[in-house]
Amino acid sequence: MSSGPDLSRLEMDVLREIADAGDLAALDAVRVAAIGKKGRISELMGQLGTLPAEDRKAFGASVNALKTKVSDALDARKATLEMAALSARLAAERADVTLPVRAGAEMLGRIHPVSQVLDECIEIFADLGFEVAEGPDIETDDLNFTKLNIPAEHPARQEHDTFYFNPKPDGSRLLLRTHTSPVQIRTMQTKKPPIRIIAPGRVYRCDSDQTHTPMFHQIEGLVIDEKTHMGHLKWVLEEFAKAFFEVDNVTMRFRASHFPFTEPSMEVDIDASAIGKPGQWLEILGCGMVHPNVLANCGLDPEKYQGFAFGMGLDRITMLKYGLPDLRAFFSADLRWLRHYGFSLLDQPTLGGGLSS
Ligand code: PHE
Repeated sequence: MSSGPDLSRLEMDVLREIADAGDLAALDAVRVAAIGKKGRISELMGQLGTLPAEDRKAFGASVNALKTKVSDALDARKATLEMAALSARLAAERADVTLPVRAGAEMLGRIHPVSQVLDECIEIFADLGFEVAEGPDIETDDLNFTKLNIPAEHPARQEHDTFYFNPKPDGSRLLLRTHTSPVQIRTMQTKKPPIRIIAPGRVYRCDSDQTHTPMFHQIEGLVIDEKTHMGHLKWVLEEFAKAFFEVDNVTMRFRASHFPFTEPSMEVDIDASAIGKPGQWLEILGCGMVHPNVLANCGLDPEKYQGFAFGMGLDRITMLKYGLPDLRAFFSADLRWLRHYGFSLLDQPTLGGGLSS
């Protein structure tokens, strides 16, 4: 019927070339030569004008049908070749996990003590049913202070030695968070109770000596539910301290204190015989029952919900547990220090296997 070139011959040739293509590059060359812009099939369309008018429609339709057939065949072959390439790679890259660790970078590298202690804490609190929450280092005044019941002009703002950014045109100022407590607010604003989170992270205060650095780490804890009380707080902290210091008993002392976002508020000391220094009390954290104003500021009904919060210095408990005297060394990037005090990559803290052994 058609007086155009022989399409079935062309079809056979191209399909054979597709079947013969041994890899993806060869297959792509076949594609370009057949249905690329200047490919054999594409160029057939250019011949339409040379045909008698009554043949053009049928010829155009058969060229298009051929094009579809060829591109389906290309896709199928491509999938097969990709599969084969993947299988070859999997076979070639098989790792024998029973081999001993190579004496290379993996053996030399060390985990920073603060990272290791953070992993220990996450392990302990995860076991108690807490999940990890995060917030940004750069915070708003509102989340770092106001929503935490520290209004403008409150003296607690001065105590925090805050690093502020330059004011924006509307007068508001961003800041480097001075504690991890704004993550409490972020969590209560977005999650419904029951809430059980820990929020580890970097915090910043304009302060520097042997035990203070302008950047340090805290770990915040927050539990909100309908009947959460101080007994729960004490139990959680005791369980934490026993697991963390890897001892059967710790004696803790709860001293009355003041934080604007908790009422009552306490500072917690541990009897340092747990770490081989009998007769000394060491402060490890601040805590309390979440202030009703804070709950209300986050849209939670203080008549219905209550809970506790705590904030702990991660660097501080690292110094206590591992006997590191100078906080500044933590951040001086001294490789000799890291090799001495750092942890092996393979030393993953687990409760079952022992946190630090
Ligand atoms: N945010 C307090 C601080 O940095 C610690 C704290 C957290 C106290 C939660 C009570 C409850 O000093």
